[in-house]
Amino acid sequence: MKTVQTIDDLRTQVRSARVAGKNIGCVPTMGALHDGHISLVEAARKETDFVVVTIFVNPTQFAPHEDLSKYPRPLEDDLRRCENAGVDLVFNPDADTVYPADDAAFVEVPRCSTTLEGAHRPSHFRGVTTIVLKLFNMVLPDIAFFGQKDYQQQLLIRHMVDDLNVPLEIRTCPTVRESDGLAMSSRNTYLSDPDRQSALALSQSLKIAHDACTADGKSPADARQAMLDHLAQFPDVKLDYAVIADANTLSEVADAVPQMVALIAGKVGSTRLIDNMLITI
Ligand code: PAF
Repeated sequence: MKTVQTIDDLRTQVRSARVAGKNIGCVPTMGALHDGHISLVEAARKETDFVVVTIFVNPTQFAPHEDLSKYPRPLEDDLRRCENAGVDLVFNPDADTVYPADDAAFVEVPRCSTTLEGAHRPSHFRGVTTIVLKLFNMVLPDIAFFGQKDYQQQLLIRHMVDDLNVPLEIRTCPTVRESDGLAMSSRNTYLSDPDRQSALALSQSLKIAHDACTADGKSPADARQAMLDHLAQFPDVKLDYAVIADANTLSEVADAVPQMVALIAGKVGSTRLIDNMLITI
């Protein structure tokens, strides 16, 4: 495995892989890698011959009051995990390499970007779509891999790729969970033991919504109420939203549609967590 910091070195490595007839997979990350990220690498290894992991804590997707400065950056550990997972190349640029100009162009995807996470973190998705398109243009992958855990993010990235004719394919891989149901996230390291217990309310309430719509045949409106009733037992969870939406448009639904997604976000202690579950009827 090689690690490069500059765009020139990245392009040299990717070009020689291509010349050798390999197709390129890309797993964009902000580091602090966990088994969820490794599952993306494994998916990339199955479908592509040369796997590039990018590790870059992207400042433009953090609001000024968010956790940019304390975001975990265990680079040694990340590189060891990548090596063990069979990654071919790690691209770990610094902020000046990625953002040389303060007044640079950006990418905004209007569809699905102003609700849910977009409503609670107004500049977040502009930062995400901008960095993801920049990373795509730097790496030039054939296929890029994202986690379902960031459901709205992967949907926006799909819209961006379609709208701007970006010549690659997107794969969305299932959320990886701890044995008790907590969705893996780099931010879980912030949770104290009691907060971690309270955080289980998120995945539990998603499962309640899922089972209410599928096994019990309840309407999304009733399933959402069941979620809220469960969450009411956890005063430590400060909810931002808990909704059941159309999986393609993210519009909230009161009556069932074939592909839905239950989405939840809230703060547990000082840590903001998100999670979601697909509901197919
Ligand atoms: O999901 C993430 O880790 C980030 O939002 C991403 C896609 C790497 C962009 O910084």
